[in-house]
Amino acid sequence: MSQIPERNPLLRVLAGERLAVPPLWLMRQAGRYLPEYRAVRQTAASFLQLCFTPKLAAEVTLQPIRRFGFDAAIVFSDILVVPHALGQKVTFETGEGPRLDALAAPSCFARLKRRLDHEALEPVYETLVRVREALPADVALLGFCGAPWTLATYMIAGCGTAEQAPARLFAYRHPQAFADLIDLLVEASAGYLVRQLKAGADAVQIFDSWAGVLPAGEFEKWCVAPLARLVAAVRQQMPSARIIGFPRGAGTLLSRYVAAVPVDAVGLDVAIDPAFARGEIQSRRPVQGNLDPLALLAGGDALDRAVDAVLEDFGAGPLIFNLGHGVLPDTPPAHVARLVARVRGAPGAC
Ligand code: CP3
Repeated sequence: MSQIPERNPLLRVLAGERLAVPPLWLMRQAGRYLPEYRAVRQTAASFLQLCFTPKLAAEVTLQPIRRFGFDAAIVFSDILVVPHALGQKVTFETGEGPRLDALAAPSCFARLKRRLDHEALEPVYETLVRVREALPADVALLGFCGAPWTLATYMIAGCGTAEQAPARLFAYRHPQAFADLIDLLVEASAGYLVRQLKAGADAVQIFDSWAGVLPAGEFEKWCVAPLARLVAAVRQQMPSARIIGFPRGAGTLLSRYVAAVPVDAVGLDVAIDPAFARGEIQSRRPVQGNLDPLALLAGGDALDRAVDAVLEDFGAGPLIFNLGHGVLPDTPPAHVARLVARVRGAPGAC
């Protein structure tokens, strides 16, 4: 069941309020930098098996909440469970990242299911139910998915690539086939987010990690327009759905995104100009971000200065404190504790 907004700082900010102490969570807050995560990870045969075992996935979701008292938990899963549930082969090689059975040509699309296999994703929904039961009412539970463009980059290349050249080339060479893939992903992702919200997610985040590699026209076609359709499809089934959009690397194109996509809040990456983001984005929507994960890894004074800069840049408006991208695996947990204390203004944090 969804939480009462008044008691939940993150939901208050999503509704447009500014809080003196911003709510705080971190992308990739569950993961390899935590010894307790590594211990659980060892007991699972594979990364996907960890995602699909509700007892274990719920445990690793809750670990950072217990340790740091964040204001939101994000369900432990991965954006690539959607290609998996569309019938694509997905594996995670330790130290190498994801490997998929690449969709190298339009003819490969015949391998995909036409609809998302919700049965394959049932463990994710069950994890959400379990976590919601275990969480205090003032901690928000977040579901998530990858944006269609970002999912397509992995599905076409079969792995992570620096500039997503395979998917970009594919979109130029086979625009109709690419549009069909994006349409399939819009529909699948909308259904997936609705099911997560029904299972107990208070809000969902849409990760468009590779939005920043596209020229303006392509950004409009493959990021903005599909996102607008995805958000509309979710709200058609759940009008009150709370949605955070994170088009990483979009730069000044964020203005286009905010104008066309009615998300409740916008995630900011580390490279955005703060004056631009305040004037063009935070004046219209609450923002989330945007501490440099490398400042968190560095710790010490550099971390303190970076935390203060985020609070100074965005603290006068509605802000959800977060990183500009995910926690890096080598980050010492003590640095995360220092960040939390500083954001909350705890005595001795300076
Ligand atoms: O704590 C959380 O944030 C929730 C869990 C979460 C994971 N992945 C777990 C994970 C979330 C929200 C994601 C999102 C995700 N997955 C994104 C979007 C955000 C981003 O980082 O840009 C992307 C692009 C992926 C795809 C993906 N998954 C990659 C490229 C990799 C390999 C790189 C890496 O960090 O290892 C993964 C694997 C992955 N997803 C791990 C975790 C904890 C590491 C695997 C392991 O522990 O064995």
